[in-house]
Amino acid sequence: MKGGRSAHALLASVLWTVLGAGCRGPATPTDPAPAARRYRDVTKHTPASVRADQFRLDWSNKPALYRSYAGAETVALPATRILTQPTVDAIAPVPAAATSAAALDLDLLGTLLFLTGGVTRARPSGGDIRATAAAGALYPNELYVVTGNLPALAAGVYHYEPQEQRLSRLRDGDWRSVLAEAADDPDVRRAPATVVVTGILWRSAWKYRERAYRHLHWDGGMMVAHLLAAAHAADLPAAVLGAFIDERVDRLVGADGIHEATLALVRIGAPGPAVASKAMEIGPLAFAAGRLSRQPIDYPEALRYHAASKLESAKAVQRIRAARLEEGVPAGALTSVALPAPARSEASLDAVVRRRSSTRRFVQRPITAAELVTVLALPARGTPADFLRGQPTLLETYVIVNAVEGVPTGAYHYRRDAQQLEIVRQGSFRDTVGFLCLGQALAQDASAVLFYLADLAHIRRAFSERGDRLAELEAGLLAGKAYLAAYAVGRGATGLTFYDDEVTRFFSPHAEGWAPLLVVAVGVPARRHAGTIPQSLTSRRRLAAARGHRPIAPRFDPDIGARPGAVAARAPRFAGVGVRDVCCVRGPQRRAPEDAS
Ligand SMILES: Cc1cc2nc3c(=O)[nH]c(=O)nc-3n(C[C@H](O)[C@H](O)[C@H](O)COP(=O)(O)O)c2cc1C
Repeated sequence: MKGGRSAHALLASVLWTVLGAGCRGPATPTDPAPAARRYRDVTKHTPASVRADQFRLDWSNKPALYRSYAGAETVALPATRILTQPTVDAIAPVPAAATSAAALDLDLLGTLLFLTGGVTRARPSGGDIRATAAAGALYPNELYVVTGNLPALAAGVYHYEPQEQRLSRLRDGDWRSVLAEAADDPDVRRAPATVVVTGILWRSAWKYRERAYRHLHWDGGMMVAHLLAAAHAADLPAAVLGAFIDERVDRLVGADGIHEATLALVRIGAPGPAVASKAMEIGPLAFAAGRLSRQPIDYPEALRYHAASKLESAKAVQRIRAARLEEGVPAGALTSVALPAPARSEASLDAVVRRRSSTRRFVQRPITAAELVTVLALPARGTPADFLRGQPTLLETYVIVNAVEGVPTGAYHYRRDAQQLEIVRQGSFRDTVGFLCLGQALAQDASAVLFYLADLAHIRRAFSERGDRLAELEAGLLAGKAYLAAYAVGRGATGLTFYDDEVTRFFSPHAEGWAPLLVVAVGVPARRHAGTIPQSLTSRRRLAAARGHRPIAPRFDPDIGARPGAVAARAPRFAGVGVRDVCCVRGPQRRAPEDAS
């Protein structure tokens, strides 16, 4: 399979080189990240691209959701330890360098991995529910751990198998000094363990095609959010590394750097004695992973951007760590709404992760302002990450309020420094937010819909081609924390996909030039109200009719894919923009439109 795919990748790369230049927007000699810019441009959803999309899922070629390594020795992970710290405290920033009383052992490592990527329960419709959400339930990320000697676990490189709650030993011995060099981070040498999060493009691309590379970071970012929260709840320091020499980390965990690639490292645990440096050659793994599917398909735009975003030297890694964003927060709006303190909840991380599952249907009921603040403000308090040393975040949060007690309906920008909502647009935007999220009733029915936006031009100037990756990862991180916060206070949440340029246009002029990276809807799950759980599309329509509003046809079904619908016909007009004004992908080669989500 690999040989076949390499030939594919080569062909894709040649094609891109020949055709790519002609498809680009107006590149300038000073463009700091042409590959990132191009990748984003060609993976935007527009009403026209979604409407024209004829893509159908090939179920006979669906990638396997789990990976295992035949012949590798396995280590069973003990029953998970209950971490009792309230979730709302655990999602606050973890002290990156604090010394802690807790010692990382096999038991605790198993708990952290379970809360990050474990199978928490069976899905009523079949399949497994895992600790984190993953678009389309495709779970494109894998977790590896590079450890020193821990109580009950010999030093090595391990792969986490969530279905079995066990580790597979991929390499014997202490590889932390090799990883420390690849990450250009001496603390990795002293940390008891570092988790490596990878993404397998085909797993997501099977459904999302070129846009899948974004999904890897969103879904992976959610896992990183859980891992940080779990480390915090266990009183262990932890820090995210988004800068590293890609090729060396990939090789260490056996990823080929094309079809599977490292997205982030998370250093965990109080520092111990540094492992001595010794020359160790990273040979190929002795075990092969099972095959993904009959015929994996390469997506050249995603591969191309990934190749351009790689860091090849310690100097390149240092440059990312030293990068600072210029001031770029959007201009202030006219009026602000003061916010209360976040809602408290004593729900433990363990309890919240075990009951988390994306909301499939919201009822149009309000949440409280304090609950909104928990979901909005706690995640934005910062993350210990190497690319956030010079700035607390790369993103800004906007929110459309449909029904929040004490907060008028409207569109807002969340000002972290002032703990306020700035009014960007006044009015009721249920239909509009449904439209912005590809016509999904989930957005229309939610109490509030959060949009994470980034000034990618600034980010690319600071972080070059790596910038989009880091911003997408942070979007996943914020979304992961928002999910945890919502379930901690007894509400529901779901990630949502969106029309890129339409979102910017809606929040402009305040968000002029900013790009949406991810959306999370928060609200009251329908299942909490007996007798109102709509099981089918027909009953959803009946319910909507009984409520007296016209339902938006859901275009997304995580299990069966997109339903062609009349999204564009429902496109509301805002700021003088109608659906006919919506532009498609620029350049001579039009992207094949993708399905929802
Ligand atoms: C980045 C992201 C985007 C998502 N987009 C959508 C969406 O557009 N519509 C939807 O109904 N669900 C969406 N979901 C929810 C997933 O379908 C859901 O996480 C997946 O089916 C797994 O189910 P679970 O979260 O209940 O475990 C999204 C999830 C993520 C993480």
